[in-house]
Amino acid sequence: MEKEMVIVLDFGGQYNQLIARRVRECNVYCEVKPYTMSLEEIKAANPKGIIFTGGPNSVYLEESPHYDEAIFSLGIPILGICYGSQLMAYELGGEVATAPVSEYGQTDVTVDNEESVLFEGVSKTSICWMSHTDYISKLPSGFRRTAWSEVCPNAAMECAERKLYATQFHPEVMHTREGMKMLANFVYKVCGCKGDWQMASFVETTIRQLREKIGSGKVLCALSGGVDSSVAAVLLSKAVGKQLTCVFVDHGLLRKNEGDEVEAVFGPEGSYDLNFIRVNAQERFYAKLAGVEDPETKRKIIGAEFIRVFEEEAKKIGAVDFLVQGTIYPDVIESGLGKSAVIKSHHNVGGLPDCVDFKEIVEPLRMLFKDEVRKAGLELGIPEHLVFRQPFPGPGLGIRIIGEVTEEKVRIVQDADYIYREEVAKAGVEGLGQYFAALTNMRSVGVMGDFRTYDYAIALRAVMTSDFMTAEAAPIPWDVLSKVTNRIVNEVKGVNRVLYDCTGKPPATIEFE
Ligand code: XMP
Repeated sequence: MEKEMVIVLDFGGQYNQLIARRVRECNVYCEVKPYTMSLEEIKAANPKGIIFTGGPNSVYLEESPHYDEAIFSLGIPILGICYGSQLMAYELGGEVATAPVSEYGQTDVTVDNEESVLFEGVSKTSICWMSHTDYISKLPSGFRRTAWSEVCPNAAMECAERKLYATQFHPEVMHTREGMKMLANFVYKVCGCKGDWQMASFVETTIRQLREKIGSGKVLCALSGGVDSSVAAVLLSKAVGKQLTCVFVDHGLLRKNEGDEVEAVFGPEGSYDLNFIRVNAQERFYAKLAGVEDPETKRKIIGAEFIRVFEEEAKKIGAVDFLVQGTIYPDVIESGLGKSAVIKSHHNVGGLPDCVDFKEIVEPLRMLFKDEVRKAGLELGIPEHLVFRQPFPGPGLGIRIIGEVTEEKVRIVQDADYIYREEVAKAGVEGLGQYFAALTNMRSVGVMGDFRTYDYAIALRAVMTSDFMTAEAAPIPWDVLSKVTNRIVNEVKGVNRVLYDCTGKPPATIEFE
């Protein structure tokens, strides 16, 4: 356990990990714990502060999550957010009521910024994010109101003597303009945290905990060379060295030189103490993909073959104690909420565990956001080209070649993509979320020298995005595009035309298939 930590008690809201992340941004270690964590466990963890999250329930329903009222008398500062604020009010003798209309979205909130430590430095009227129907209709005794909105009479309350604070709105989301100030006030001024935690301490603590957990056990990791699995693998290698075996499947659908680059870092010549197995399975994948044109069928074939190859390797290794997965927090939400229509099946989300004989899964990055994983990667000394790698889909170039995949087409798209990435990097184009070349299934007439050609068109894609759920086409400068085009048609045999994709997502997706 870290010396100075804040616990986020999870009552089922959407932003639980975001709250923890915001606290970590204040350089204070923070973890989300289920509301079933006992009072004894909380006392033993000795946190500097506790934050109650929001949640979808109404406090007065019996089946709603509650907490032992004794928590409010531990002397540990508590901040209740949304449902958490209502729970605090309800359990301490206040009243919660259901409003005739919900309050949802950005709201002007008037705060008591002179008297309340929580709102120190916050503007008198501040835009806050609300998402609730229930509200605190009567404060518990000893509490005073510290903020209100037109619809919400008690948008914040506190009992400073008991170090109990509550906000109906969500300080953790970006839409609450001065939310970070409020959280920082809670963490530093109310809880008295020093804020000396760094990603380096996360790395150190995680390695120590992994070592304790794994003991002399055997560990297996599917390494893709992507940021998440690389960081997970390095953490494990630092914890248990050669007890870890990483299997890297080269399915022949990686970007140019990528297989060798991964091997250079993790293989025998690389910098880490681990067993590295590279499986060159290109031929197997090409054979399975021969004649297949449908995108979903291709994905399924690549996914299934990947599992088969991995299974064969796992069998050679035999039973292991732990299987490492580079799951990060956004994967947890994506797979948890998966109720929306399947636009594309992402093969690398599941499947692996079924084909390995293991006792337990280890997911050391489960609570981190992508940029935190990158920070951890840098702390671990992983080369920057791996740490800041663009997202790359599990099925790889298989879904960047429209229609049938052949070895020749893989070569074309690899070479074109390499040139594109090289020129964009040279030009220092900034702000791109993802950019790559795809091979269309279209051939057209051209002329090179005095000869007629009938060759493929390469499509260039570049998008700006923050969450990959929506994206805008990026305005790559024309001189860069024109240079890339020249080089591709001159250097990549089989291409006589280069197109630029100007479509956003929606209506297109980022990948072509
Ligand atoms: P789309 O094409 O759905 O892509 O707009 C959104 C993001 O997801 C990546 N992507 C995948 N990642 N397996 C993955 O691991 C897949 O099958 C897959 N398909 C798309 C894509 O590169 C983009 O970052």
